[in-house]
Amino acid sequence: MTLSAVEAAPKAELHIHLEGSLEPDMLLALAARNQVAIPYANADQLRAAYDFANLQEFLELYWAGQSVLRTERDFYDLTHAYLARAHRDNVVHVEAHLLPQGHTPRGVPFGAVLDGALAAFDDARHAFGITGGIILGLNRHESQDEAPAVLQSAEPWRDRILALGLEGPEKGNPPSKFTRVYDQARDWGWHLTAHAGEEGPPDYIVEALDMLKVERIDHGVRCEQSPALVRRLAEQGVPLTVCPLSNVMLKVFPALARHNLRRLLQAGLCVTVNSDDPPYFGGYVNANYTQSAAALGLSMAEQRRLVRNGFIAAFIDDEQRRRCLHDLDAAWPSP
Ligand code: ADE
Ligand code: ZN
Repeated sequence: MTLSAVEAAPKAELHIHLEGSLEPDMLLALAARNQVAIPYANADQLRAAYDFANLQEFLELYWAGQSVLRTERDFYDLTHAYLARAHRDNVVHVEAHLLPQGHTPRGVPFGAVLDGALAAFDDARHAFGITGGIILGLNRHESQDEAPAVLQSAEPWRDRILALGLEGPEKGNPPSKFTRVYDQARDWGWHLTAHAGEEGPPDYIVEALDMLKVERIDHGVRCEQSPALVRRLAEQGVPLTVCPLSNVMLKVFPALARHNLRRLLQAGLCVTVNSDDPPYFGGYVNANYTQSAAALGLSMAEQRRLVRNGFIAAFIDDEQRRRCLHDLDAAWPSP
């Protein structure tokens, strides 16, 4: 099968939840390995449950499925499988969300989560040449009083973690809850990002920028409700890590053809394309690109710009950025 230019191009993926890359077959295999009871007999039954009215409905199923993740080996296998799959989509750089706070209440050691995932990143660098790292997530619906302890637990790994992120149910959980931990992470030299404007209002994007001082916004598509904010995002070059198939599956948009990705790109925003939780939403990063291109009629130049933006938005140094952009130019010359 011949690949389209966007499928064949070297790409960055900046918005993927490692827990959200848990394929039904692996979920069932881990349930058996760890003797965790789950209410599904086979992968088809699991897939049939992937039908969501909104973010909350998705999160409840997603959290329940994660109960099969127990050991360092599980986190290694999960991360390794995702990175191998990303490599098949010609992803060369990955910044992946991981949420220890979602696992430690089950008795999973904090270190098992991080060491398993980090070892898979190390191996993927050798096996596939994939670079990248982990965005340590906080669950926004948990008390802000818990967040400093999460960061404290991460202290032994602080030099190996790329960034701090914020995820979970957005409505009613504004970014301002987390100002103190974002200050701490910034002091440690971590990069900063946060989910905002997925289901929540444009004000949450403004709070993430002004109070958490994030460098990019995960999703952010609801910025369009505020023309002043759209202008600000364009002028300041704040990247959005947009996940088109996720937005359709979670009813942020009624159909891919109604997604605002193209309008945001045309408004001058640094829009990037990502997969969020691929098995749940029907596709990895290449599927997000090709289905969006088809539904929205994206030109080749627009598709190339989206890929290029991935490297512009990545938390990498100037030298690596220059190399990535050079490799993209070689694989897919500018028209
Ligand atoms: N965690 C995993 N996927 C998410 C999403 N789309 N929004 C918020 N939190 C998430
Ligand atoms: Zn996400």
